[in-house]
Amino acid sequence: MSDIKLLFCGDVVGRAGREAVVKHVPRLRKEHALDFVVVSGDNAARGFGITPEICREFYECGVDVVTGGDHVWDQKETHPYLDREPRLLRPHNFPEKTVGKGFGMYPLPDGRKIAVLHLLGQVFHKEYLDCPFACAEKALTHARMGHQVAAILVDMHAEATSEKCAMGVFLDGRVSAVVGSHTHIPTADARILPKGTAYQTDVGMCGDYNSVIGFDAEAPLLMFTTKVRKMRMQPAAGEGTLAATLITVNGETGLARSITPLLLDGVIGQ
Ligand SMILES: [Fe+2]
Ligand SMILES: [Fe+2]
Repeated sequence: MSDIKLLFCGDVVGRAGREAVVKHVPRLRKEHALDFVVVSGDNAARGFGITPEICREFYECGVDVVTGGDHVWDQKETHPYLDREPRLLRPHNFPEKTVGKGFGMYPLPDGRKIAVLHLLGQVFHKEYLDCPFACAEKALTHARMGHQVAAILVDMHAEATSEKCAMGVFLDGRVSAVVGSHTHIPTADARILPKGTAYQTDVGMCGDYNSVIGFDAEAPLLMFTTKVRKMRMQPAAGEGTLAATLITVNGETGLARSITPLLLDGVIGQ
């Protein structure tokens, strides 16, 4: 069985982030012969959530699955879409009766399947969700690598570095990759864990880094200096960076062979 190449793009913030995805994903898909592309759409719609229209724009440029993050509820029109569109995931550890789902299996052209599991952390999050560790354990009883699925990608959307790191160790050897999202700054710890799972605490954001985590500085500075939220945050509009991570997976075992962070264009592009 041939290896599988996965690309995960970090939180898209506003137009700058969307343009980076639309510019780079089609080319990367060809150049690296990518099998599967997942994008975190957390902040794609003017900084807050995602819309069905933006999802379609991503699917058309070669994205297979969009993960919604904690902002997935921000755009009301997206709620019914979550039940209609299996390629848009919300975090899986919301209650079972919540619209949509956070775990999906997607066929490749050769018949093999890729599983994507999207989780939201509990530390510093206000949603009071089910434990992401127990949720992952339960979800993975339905997906074992080398049997039904060729690769499993986990997007752990969380504030705390420790919680993301713990999830990587918890799932080491059972999934192809655990990639972190939500904090918008790429971490320099991409590696393969001892039992073969690729891991990075945060992939970073797709957006303009000449900002405060993708937003014009004025509103966050006013908030931090006065401790009052008075201004709506606006996505920064300079050239966006694509922050993504490329993972090569052994087609026989589902374990990772390599993990390579990519930073393209904008102020931190390499
Ligand atoms: Fe988030
Ligand atoms: Fe985000």
